[in-house]
Amino acid sequence: MNILVTGGAGYVGSHAVKHLVGKGHNVWVFDNLVYGHRGAADPKRFVQGDLHEKDKLAKLFREHKIEAVMHFAAYALVGESVTDPAKYYQNNIVGTLALLDTMRECGVGKIVFSSTCATYGVPQIVPIPEDHPQAPINPYGYTKLVIERALEDYAHAYKLGFAALRYFNASGAAADGSIGEDHTPESHLIPLVLQVALGQREHITIFGTDYPTPDGTCIRDYIHVDDLATAHLKALEKLGPGVAIKCNLGTGVGQSVREVITACEEVTGKRIKTVEGPRREGDPPELVCNPAGAKRMLDWQAQHTDIKETIASAWKWHSAHPNGFGD
Ligand SMILES: NC(=O)c1ccc[n+]([C@@H]2O[C@H](COP(=O)([O-])OP(=O)(O)OC[C@H]3O[C@@H](n4cnc5c(N)ncnc54)[C@H](O)[C@@H]3O)[C@@H](O)[C@H]2O)c1
Repeated sequence: MNILVTGGAGYVGSHAVKHLVGKGHNVWVFDNLVYGHRGAADPKRFVQGDLHEKDKLAKLFREHKIEAVMHFAAYALVGESVTDPAKYYQNNIVGTLALLDTMRECGVGKIVFSSTCATYGVPQIVPIPEDHPQAPINPYGYTKLVIERALEDYAHAYKLGFAALRYFNASGAAADGSIGEDHTPESHLIPLVLQVALGQREHITIFGTDYPTPDGTCIRDYIHVDDLATAHLKALEKLGPGVAIKCNLGTGVGQSVREVITACEEVTGKRIKTVEGPRREGDPPELVCNPAGAKRMLDWQAQHTDIKETIASAWKWHSAHPNGFGD
C-alpha cells in the first residue's frame, strides 16, 4: 500500500515506518520536526510539513496515490497540556481535523490513529478493558478522546475506516539499535533511568511511595515499540469502508517504578541513585491494559513481555547514542 505516516520522525512513528518498509509498503513520512528528528527518517521518503498545511498534504495524497494514513503526529506531554492547553487543542484536535478533511477531499479512506490509555482517566477497573468509561483527567487525554469521537462520526457519515489504538507506556527500541527513543524534554521513566545509568542525570525521583500497590510505587504497562508497530500493521489490514476499531495496546502485565529501576540496574550493571518525592497530581496508582480486545479484534498480542528484554533494547540504543539523534 501507499501509506503516509504523520509524526514518522518521532519515536513510535519511526519504528512503525521501519516495519512498514520491511513489509514492502511504499511509505512517506510527514513531520514538522518540532519534536521529531531528521536522523530518524530516511531522506528519500521524508517531507517536512505541518498537519495544518492542507495544500501540502493534498499534494502528497494525490501525487503518491496515498491509500492510508498512520497518524502519530501530536503533542504528548501531559504536564504541558495542563499549563498550555491551547497548544494541545490546536495541534491535536485542529491539526488532526485538517488532516481528516484533506483525506476526505482526496479520497483517502483509512487511518490508524495513536490514541492513549490517558483517555480512561483514573481507572475504575484494572486491567482496563476497552469498554471502560473514558473520562480523561488532563487536556492531552481529552484531545485524544475528541479525535476518537470524530473518527467514529466520520466512519458513520463518510465511511472512513479507522483504528484508534490506545497505547499504554511505549518503551524499548529497534532490535538492530538503529533508532530509539529521543524525547526533549524526556518524560518517560525508562529513558530517564537510563540517563542516570549513563551519568547524564544524578538520580531518578520516585514520585510517590505510598500508593496502594505492593511496593508503594505506581504500576504501569510497558509495551515494546516494535509490538506497537506490528499492531498498527494488523489494524491496517482490517480496515475497510466504515470499519471502526477501538483497541488497547499493552502487555497486560504491570511493572512498578521500583521494579523498572531494579530491572534497569540488572540490565546496565550500574547502580541507579533514587530520591523519593511526593505523589504527582493526576498519577493513578495502576494503569494496566486488558489485552483481550487486541487479541480478538486484531489477532495481536505483545511478543516482548519480559521487561528486562525491553529495557535491554532501549539500553542498546541509549548507550550507543548518548545524545540521541544528536540534533
Ligand atoms: N510514547 C508513548 O508512551 C505514547 C503513549 C500513548 C500514546 N502515544 C501517542 O503516540 C504518538 C507518538 O508518540 P511519540 O512518543 O512517538 O511522540 P514523538 O513526539 O516522538 O512523535 C510525534 C511526532 O509528531 C510530530 N508532530 C507533532 N505535531 C505535528 C504537526 N502538527 N505536524 C507534523 N508533525 C507533527 C513531532 O515532530 C514528532 O516527530 C502521539 O500521538 C502520542 O500521543 C504515545
